[in-house]
Amino acid sequence: MHDDQSTYRVYLCGGSNCGPLNMPTLLRYLEDMVWEHGLDSLVEIRVSGCQGRCAYGPNLMVYPGRYRYAALTHERLKQIVRQHLAAGHPVREYLLAE
Ligand code: FES
Repeated sequence: MHDDQSTYRVYLCGGSNCGPLNMPTLLRYLEDMVWEHGLDSLVEIRVSGCQGRCAYGPNLMVYPGRYRYAALTHERLKQIVRQHLAAGHPVREYLLAE
C-alpha cells in the first residue's frame, strides 16, 4: 500500500485538439508501459479536458509537479515512464516551458 505522496497522477489530454491526435492509442500504450514497469499501483492515469497548450499536443501533465510534456509519441511515453515515473527523474528535453 502506498500513500498519496508516492503516487503520480498522469493526465493525458483528451481535448478537441489532442484527442484526435492518436489519443486512444497513446492512452493504451501508456497503460501498457505503466503495467509493464510494475507501476500500476503507483500511477493513476486519467484523461483530461483541454490543457490550454493545443499547439503543442498531444500533451500530458504529471503530478506532483506539475510537469507538462508535449508532442507525445510512443517513444516519448516510454521514456517518460522509465525515467520519470519509474526512476523519479523528469525528462527535461520533452517538457514544455511554462
Ligand atoms: S486539446 Fe490538448 S491542450 Fe488543448
